Amino acid sequence: MSSSFRDQNAAGVDDGEGNARPVTPVGVAQREEREDSVDISVIGTGNVGRTLGRRWAELGHAVRFGVRDPGAARHDDTLAASPGATTVGVAEAGRADVVVVAVPWAAAEAVARQLALGEATILVDAVNPLLPGLAGLDPAAAPSVTAHLATRTGSSRVVKAFNTTGAGNMADPGYGAARPVMPVAGDDAEAKATVLELADALGFDGLDAGGLGAAQDLEHLALAWIRLAYQLGNGPNIAWSLLRR
Ligand SMILES: NC(=O)c1ccc[n+]([C@@H]2O[C@H](COP(=O)([O-])OP(=O)(O)OC[C@H]3O[C@@H](n4cnc5c(N)ncnc54)[C@H](OP(=O)(O)O)[C@@H]3O)[C@@H](O)[C@H]2O)c1
Repeated sequence: MSSSFRDQNAAGVDDGEGNARPVTPVGVAQREEREDSVDISVIGTGNVGRTLGRRWAELGHAVRFGVRDPGAARHDDTLAASPGATTVGVAEAGRADVVVVAVPWAAAEAVARQLALGEATILVDAVNPLLPGLAGLDPAAAPSVTAHLATRTGSSRVVKAFNTTGAGNMADPGYGAARPVMPVAGDDAEAKATVLELADALGFDGLDAGGLGAAQDLEHLALAWIRLAYQLGNGPNIAWSLLRR
């Protein structure tokens, strides 16, 4: 993995290994060669997981989706939309440069326990611990889901990101001249720099939001976005932006 892929366009690396399930759908563009490709595992193929995985695959990164049923045909559409991507089991998905956890809070700790993380693997937490009815954040997740995942995995390279805006904005972050901000929090500077670049590559304004302790801030920021979008009538085509002068 190179330290800078922000200005690169296309992609490439070999397909998955081991139990990976290569997909070569007819009529779907294959991943192009990219020198600084990052091996990214995305756990979950829901709104967030399939969107982030597809976009990074389109940018030329080597994407694997960590799922409960890697051989299932229900993943075919996701794979067909994500050049070069494969599905693998959750444990195997831990062997990547970057692992993004995009599952519900109720499943997050169990997923973290299953991950066989590499020594240098960066674990990215996109999870929001929402209470039913958007009543707030689950106090059981305090201080943050991210802190829980750090404990469960024993990893110090844990980063909060991709939780403060909707999946629709991850699919298309275009707001004219403005770039939606993507706050990123974590204690490991190198890990955070990599995640900031992955956010920038998607079209976000990657923002260093502080250390692991700031992950709880981002969970509250997410709750505010969700309430604005879905309880206060603004809809999901809204995004946070940071003004500078
Ligand atoms: N939706 C958004 O706009 C948004 C934005 C930012 C952050 N988030 C956060 O991101 C996370 C995912 O949200 P989402 O909207 O993508 O959820 P979703 O559409 O409901 O998808 C959840 C995914 O998690 C997988 N999953 C659940 N339990 C699992 C387990 N034990 N092992 C492996 N995979 C499991 C599901 O797999 P199966 O198909 O096998 O059930 C599914 O692919 C949540 O924590 C949410 O708070 C969401």
